[in-house]
Amino acid sequence: MWLTWRAATERALYGEDGFYLRERPSGHFRTSVSASPAFAGAVLALLSKVDAELGGPDVLDLVDIGAGEGTLVTQVLAAAEPALRDRLRVTAVDLSPRPEGLPERVAWRRSVPTGITGLAIANEWLDNVPLDVAEQTAAGPRLIMVNIRTGEERLGDPPEPDDRAWLDRWWPLTRVGSRAEIGRPRDEAWASVLGRLTRGRAIAVDYAHLVDNRPLCGTLTGYRDGAVVAPIPDGTCDITAHVALDACAEAGRGAGAISTTLSTQRDALRALGITGTRPPIDRARTDPRGYIRALARASEEGELIDPAGLGGFGWLSQRR
Ligand SMILES: C[S@@+](CC[C@H](N)C(=O)[O-])C[C@H]1O[C@@H](n2cnc3c(N)ncnc32)[C@H](O)[C@@H]1O
Repeated sequence: MWLTWRAATERALYGEDGFYLRERPSGHFRTSVSASPAFAGAVLALLSKVDAELGGPDVLDLVDIGAGEGTLVTQVLAAAEPALRDRLRVTAVDLSPRPEGLPERVAWRRSVPTGITGLAIANEWLDNVPLDVAEQTAAGPRLIMVNIRTGEERLGDPPEPDDRAWLDRWWPLTRVGSRAEIGRPRDEAWASVLGRLTRGRAIAVDYAHLVDNRPLCGTLTGYRDGAVVAPIPDGTCDITAHVALDACAEAGRGAGAISTTLSTQRDALRALGITGTRPPIDRARTDPRGYIRALARASEEGELIDPAGLGGFGWLSQRR
């Protein structure tokens, strides 16, 4: 069967018995959340900032969108001071079933709640929002159709006017044979998050590109069992593509964001106290166990802010 990439990916990841309904993300790839609890520590620091910005409301929301196994909210809850923890309303949003062992006070939902006052965070969610792929031909852009069994591709119809407008604005295709991933569904997904935020911040963290530096042939990639594989939309692998985070930022503004910061994870985490600094060597003599622990922690922090890896991810932060 031949489908557009968006329809094929929707079916492969979230359809009946789709990849994400069956599998747990940590079995297939590493995210900042699975790399180190230091990431949750930074999110907790951010949550405390948002709490202060909001004047310490009686109920403070923490909403994790694309929560996967619920690890981030579980770790934030465990590390929070009781005075903050008692005021937290924690919601994990994912299309997959509620993970076993998730703390009872974490609500598990398939859609983003309305009326959020606090922090909404989406780590590696937008890259899994399915999208269409267009290829430039001598007669203009055409959608790519994909065979859902083999991954074979062929040209389909020209994109709809809204998609065409998105390409012209955010990912102009100049050369014949060049390809773009049409990020409109992600813009809409992100705008809907801002629309559900009453007051506070929404943060999207993902591998990203900006309009001046889009990849010539797109970034569609498959992951299975920790390895990169061909992105065949047959339900056996994750299918992901980098995020046009600048376009999402614009959509967020349109949905009511009053401020926008687009930075790297490295800069964002350093501002939250993640430095990767190694403990002083003297400590190895006075407190060998503490030294080893601090060294391990420094190495995890180093991974989170490595500019060639997770540190190079984009952080989009918007306020309402
Ligand atoms: C790459 S995983 C990230 C998991 C986790 N945030 C982490 O950083 O480890 C993406 C998750 O987003 C979820 N997801 C994708 N689209 C979604 C949607 N429209 N609504 C809710 N969850 C979605 C998937 O089911 C998957 O668990």
